[in-house]
Amino acid sequence: MVQFSLPENSKIGTGKTYRAPPGARRVREFKIYRWNVDDGKNPVIDTFEIDLDDCGPMVLDALLKIKNEIDTSLGFRRSCREGVCGSCAMNIDGTNTLACIKAIEDVKGAVRIHPLPHLPVIKDLVPELSHAFAQYRLIAPWLECESAPPPDRERLQSEEERGKLDGLWECILCFCCTTACPSYWWNGERYLGPAILLQAYRWIADSRDEKTGERLDALEDPFRLYRCHTIMNCTKTCPKGLNPGRAIAEIKKLLALRR
Ligand code: SF4
Ligand code: SF4
Ligand code: FES
Repeated sequence: MVQFSLPENSKIGTGKTYRAPPGARRVREFKIYRWNVDDGKNPVIDTFEIDLDDCGPMVLDALLKIKNEIDTSLGFRRSCREGVCGSCAMNIDGTNTLACIKAIEDVKGAVRIHPLPHLPVIKDLVPELSHAFAQYRLIAPWLECESAPPPDRERLQSEEERGKLDGLWECILCFCCTTACPSYWWNGERYLGPAILLQAYRWIADSRDEKTGERLDALEDPFRLYRCHTIMNCTKTCPKGLNPGRAIAEIKKLLALRR
């Protein structure tokens, strides 16, 4: 059997423990990945004991409490706290999800929090997303038209045409799906991954777009699209209940039909 071992500088150690204040009655442990490029040390897991009677209900509430009251150096992204900006995506209890809509009560035992997997880490829970957003630019995520728009109104769609975008426009580009995809882990340099492919299909499916052929040409590539092997981790993990695996299958179908 092949045995793999992590490089020395990837081994995760045990960090500090911050005890709950005396008198706390409903204590829950939060075990959080910490890493700071500036101190040159290996990552560690810090343990924070939080009194749930003195904390909001979501995992993001606990992170904000830790940052505001216990350790101001904790790094994570957040903005909307409503599940619409996608910035608080992280791995909680072994699943990629959004910290602001993940209830602490839904986690049994210690709440283990890591950054999104298989991306470089900038600090603590903050992943490096430049490459993912460069891949997003590649699919031209905007309406491409050559014809002039009607002079007196917008480009209209029928209800049915508009309905084809449901399940696509709701994507908030949190990258929970992409970073749960084994194919992206191994081929992320060239494979676009489920988030970007769902976005690509969003424009392919748009009745107003006039560059469908060019969009399909750009995806007909052994790596950009066909590294998807229908493992469906992406659909299982999407915190918005979307189905990127299906969007990828629709692109493959269109490519097969035009041959
Ligand atoms: S269905 Fe495709 S994109 Fe989704 S996890 Fe599997 S390989 Fe990745
Ligand atoms: S498909 Fe879902 S998991 Fe993937 S980026 Fe969009 S919202 Fe996030
Ligand atoms: S803070 Fe915006 S999705 Fe969680």
